[in-house]
Amino acid sequence: MTPHKTPAVPVLAIDGPSGAGKGTISRLLSRRLGWHLLDSGALYRVLAIAAMRSRLSLEDIDGLARLAGEVRVRFVSDEAGGERIELDGELVTDEVRTERAGDAASRLARFPEVRDALVQLQRDFVRAPGLVADGRDMGTRIFTDATLKVFLTATPEERARRRHKQLKEKGIDVSLAALSRDIAERDARDAQRAVAPLVPADDAKVLDSTVMSIPQVVDRIVDWLGERIDIPPVGQA
Ligand code: DC
Repeated sequence: MTPHKTPAVPVLAIDGPSGAGKGTISRLLSRRLGWHLLDSGALYRVLAIAAMRSRLSLEDIDGLARLAGEVRVRFVSDEAGGERIELDGELVTDEVRTERAGDAASRLARFPEVRDALVQLQRDFVRAPGLVADGRDMGTRIFTDATLKVFLTATPEERARRRHKQLKEKGIDVSLAALSRDIAERDARDAQRAVAPLVPADDAKVLDSTVMSIPQVVDRIVDWLGERIDIPPVGQA
């Protein structure tokens, strides 16, 4: 696989474990910078949904890789800043966020053939004026020459607490203990898999957000980015 080559268009890679706040932070960064957003986890989740719908086993590597080349996924931003996700023309926004889809995504993400089938799709998201790429292997594999790589993390307890709060706000009632267990299991699976394990890139900046507020995290990343490229001041992005 050829490495990702020098970004004429800047890429900001945000990697890290589940519940570290990557989704929220990446979305805010993309708005503040006026850059496009790639939610790569959503691609794996949509693929998992497509597999479950076509009753494909999550162990059927060839079938999954083929499906990855066939699914049509669209991310559509509406004017209110919300985002819709479509799978083959059908709205799957809510289903994508379920724990079931996340768990299934983590399972199929173990297979190199499935990951390979999604590489080009992810690189095609690079478009001027820039891209914020949120995932697990954005800096280590997909965008190896990213302008800045951030590995965002937080303690497992804090990540479980954040996820719990997020689900509760959506009216989904899950016990904190069950969530902690799921997060620990998914962490282990994502970190130990043979391909693209969840590790920071050698040249990534590690940011532990456990005791930081969301605006503090965003500001820190924008500061780091500003040390590498010229970016518009706040409010002018
Ligand atoms: O970030 P998320 O929870 O939406 O991701 C769901 C699963 O997809 C996660 O458990 C691991 C997998 N994933 C991956 O392997 N590589 C990525 N770049 C993004 C997600």
